[in-house]
Amino acid sequence: MGCQLPIGVFDSGVGGLTVAKEIMSQLPGERILYYGDTARVPYGSKSKETVTEYSRQIIRFLMSQGVKVIVVACNTASALAVDTLRSEFDVPILDVVEPGARAAAAATKNGRIGILGTEGTIRSGMYNKCLYDINPDLGVYSRACPLFVPLVEEGWIYDNITREVIKRYLSDLQGKEIDSLVLGCTHYPLLRNLIDDVAKEVIGSNVTLVNPAVETAKELKTLLAERDMLSDHTHVPEHTFYVSDGAEKFRSFANSILSCTVIETKDVAVKTFE
Ligand code: DGL
Repeated sequence: MGCQLPIGVFDSGVGGLTVAKEIMSQLPGERILYYGDTARVPYGSKSKETVTEYSRQIIRFLMSQGVKVIVVACNTASALAVDTLRSEFDVPILDVVEPGARAAAAATKNGRIGILGTEGTIRSGMYNKCLYDINPDLGVYSRACPLFVPLVEEGWIYDNITREVIKRYLSDLQGKEIDSLVLGCTHYPLLRNLIDDVAKEVIGSNVTLVNPAVETAKELKTLLAERDMLSDHTHVPEHTFYVSDGAEKFRSFANSILSCTVIETKDVAVKTFE
């Protein structure tokens, strides 16, 4: 029978679009309702309580629009808030950290994994926990990269300044013999080419980047299939995008990275969804 309701996807800003893009590619018949909390980005430097409350408000808003599942397309909210959110809402909630850890554990050949993420994600130790649950013998090395999100939100994704910032952060992972490097923030795949280049130079030529979005979309497909919730749309549906500020800036950014055309982005303040 399936379920024609959309998939609710959210992030602090444009980062979650990298997850939405992967969902669109692996599940082309599914409609997405996206919320980017652009008025309150970044989440990475905020407390667990604040990120949990922001996420709660967004989920309430998405549920008020009618969604069949929520994808927390933000590593910070996944790492800090997802357990609480799952206990509060009666809707399946997928995060990006657990799939990201599974993808990294599958990708590494020498058992040495690097994690790049926001301060909140790295401080939470969530990637380490998930990876050690899979295999306690893995070597896990993390680095918080707080400047990446503002650089991406500013659109500086091919800039020399961004390259220098990446170099500075990655030099801390030098000599650790890492062969898999997790892009543990959904904004980071937008810097993929530069990070890949610098990682090969600074960490080693055999390093592979892991984008948790790929595994997340795969697991979303499995979940929907198991629950008989896949949509039976035969055409590519029209997705809807909401933000808490700067709708026009968001729309043009989304159009530069998605393969569909974003015609309109609506401003919605979710603070009222308390
Ligand atoms: N893109 C988000 C993440 O995956 C949040 C980044 C931020 O707002 O600091 O962590």
